[in-house]
Amino acid sequence: MYEQVSHSLLNRILDELKPEIRKRDLRHFYTRLGANFYAIHSLFHYLYGNRDDFDEQLLRLVEVMARQYLERDKNLKASDIARERDHNWFLNPEWVGMALYSDGFAGDLEGLRENLGYLQDLGVNLVHVMPILKCPQGASDGGYAVSDFRDVDARVGSLDDIRTLAEQMRLRNMLLTLDVVVNHTSDEHAWAQRARQGEQKYQDYYYVFDDRKVPDLFEETMPEVFPETSPGNFTLDEAMNKWVMTVFNHYQWDLNYTNPAVFIEMLDIILFWANQGADILRLDAVAFLWKKIGTTSQNEREAHLILQLFKDCCQVTAPGVLFIAEAIVAPVELTKYFGEDAVIAKECEIAYNATFMALLWDAVATRNARLLNQGIQSLPDKLDRATWLNYVRCHDDIGLGFDDRDIARAGYSPLAHRRFLVDYFTGAYDDSPARGKPFAQNEKTGDARIAGSLASLAGLEAALEQNDETLIRQSIDLILTLHAMIMSFGGIPLLYYGDEIGTLNDRSYLDDPTKASDSRWMHRPRIDWDKAALRSDRGSPEQRIFDGLKRMISVRKSTPAFADFNNRELLETGNPHLFAFLRRNPMLQQDDVLVVANFDAEPQALTPAELSSRRRFEFGGLHDLYSGASPDLATDRLVVPPFGFYWLSDHAGR
Ligand code: GLC
Repeated sequence: MYEQVSHSLLNRILDELKPEIRKRDLRHFYTRLGANFYAIHSLFHYLYGNRDDFDEQLLRLVEVMARQYLERDKNLKASDIARERDHNWFLNPEWVGMALYSDGFAGDLEGLRENLGYLQDLGVNLVHVMPILKCPQGASDGGYAVSDFRDVDARVGSLDDIRTLAEQMRLRNMLLTLDVVVNHTSDEHAWAQRARQGEQKYQDYYYVFDDRKVPDLFEETMPEVFPETSPGNFTLDEAMNKWVMTVFNHYQWDLNYTNPAVFIEMLDIILFWANQGADILRLDAVAFLWKKIGTTSQNEREAHLILQLFKDCCQVTAPGVLFIAEAIVAPVELTKYFGEDAVIAKECEIAYNATFMALLWDAVATRNARLLNQGIQSLPDKLDRATWLNYVRCHDDIGLGFDDRDIARAGYSPLAHRRFLVDYFTGAYDDSPARGKPFAQNEKTGDARIAGSLASLAGLEAALEQNDETLIRQSIDLILTLHAMIMSFGGIPLLYYGDEIGTLNDRSYLDDPTKASDSRWMHRPRIDWDKAALRSDRGSPEQRIFDGLKRMISVRKSTPAFADFNNRELLETGNPHLFAFLRRNPMLQQDDVLVVANFDAEPQALTPAELSSRRRFEFGGLHDLYSGASPDLATDRLVVPPFGFYWLSDHAGR
């Protein structure tokens, strides 16, 4: 948009750019800057306009964008242009992701590179490499306490390794996702160290207070993230004798975005990683970016404005790079991280679908889809040019982040239902085969979350111990059905490393004092490659899960109806154990897919008449895209096996 004030300011800034920048070829940069400058200026002004040095800060911001543009490799620039042309590229069903720790997966970054073939064999073509940056030797919150944003931790490799990995992945048409921990640094980061030594400039990078007056005001309304291991939101730093805001662990200092220098530093770091070859950047803990006394200091409007500003600036320098919002928040807040626009993602193109994840686990525990149906109905539609990251398990705990009103509408009492779920998954409930552990139990609020590997939560550990083939089969079916849901729901499915071979809980973390108090380590495994090799043994759980997922992935990739264009319609089946939805092919009418999952241990049926869909399937001609078989249609009823699913199509061509 053309607006006089911002454009005359832009002209002045361009005149003031250092000659070594001005002389270079900045053609695309200028076009994009011109197109985005009104938004950048308005947002920056909203956040920092009251400062005397506003113009100077804005000049620095433009300089950072220009310098990083000049640093950007020509291949990456070419991919920016290709993605600008094909801007819906990430919505098609071609992409299937996996999140992994490079050390847990294959020792280090080199090991990961050597095992890309394993991922490709499965069909994975998007890899989220969990934190790899320099972090403290002891506790580091799994690398989310970063000591140097521009250096790779020597324990997993070097910057060169990342560049080589990015290059190799590009050749294999795989996407690389890396984290940028935008909300906080480790207390060993140079900024924190210099703050400790008394440098005011760096104390201003954080929330630092002389006494408890302001911290106490914040504490009145801020919840605790890690109540057991890091109660409260402030830590007394002995060296400074001052209180520092530490929302997560006591060694993770929250960055202060009321200071524009912090914004500019972090933008520079985002662009630095875009330039190392990352296709997607996962912005960690974005709900926490803005703190305000009297609020929970989560999901604040300014946190959204900061994300918009990051996006606008990134579009100038590296427009092909997507952002993932890691905001594990209530359903109504979740979609806001796409940005509040009619069509385009103004903040992050991708967001974790934490609501769907938690609802799936609810269906597992209750063996019915009542809350799942209810919760999905309440989840606002996503924007056209944005997509979900659908997952069953990740490196974090499972938080029961659905809405109490939905729990009540599904017919349960919210408090009792939440307690039941935690008990069910953590072994306190007799009838449950799940083998999880509670995480972050809060004595004050009664809240708890759940840790444990997918397979152990889905009953495989218990079934193997009992050596009971029926139970083993049921838990494998459940594991596959959960994955079938994330592959067909709409969005990018994100698998979690180890789940493809049914990895069970790893209890070795209890022997490591830096991990023992954090039960999330139970599901951050070291891959046992001997166990992985069993995927070639016919009939082994590893083979059944691996081959099942592999088949699912290949069907997903060739099913246009699984693209994500808001082309999903929930179906009321009349049978509470079934979760059913219709996926429409955005291009053709006749290629719809009916997805139906049974969360019960008994076969469950639905009849065509029960489907309140506008489009009737020819039940007789239905076949399952996954197995290739025609389902059991006894007496015109569709029978879904225990813990099973169907991807049904009546399209003759398939
Ligand atoms: C994110 C990460 C989590 C970490 C937290 C603090 O939620 O996923 O593992 O503990 O941020 O960095």
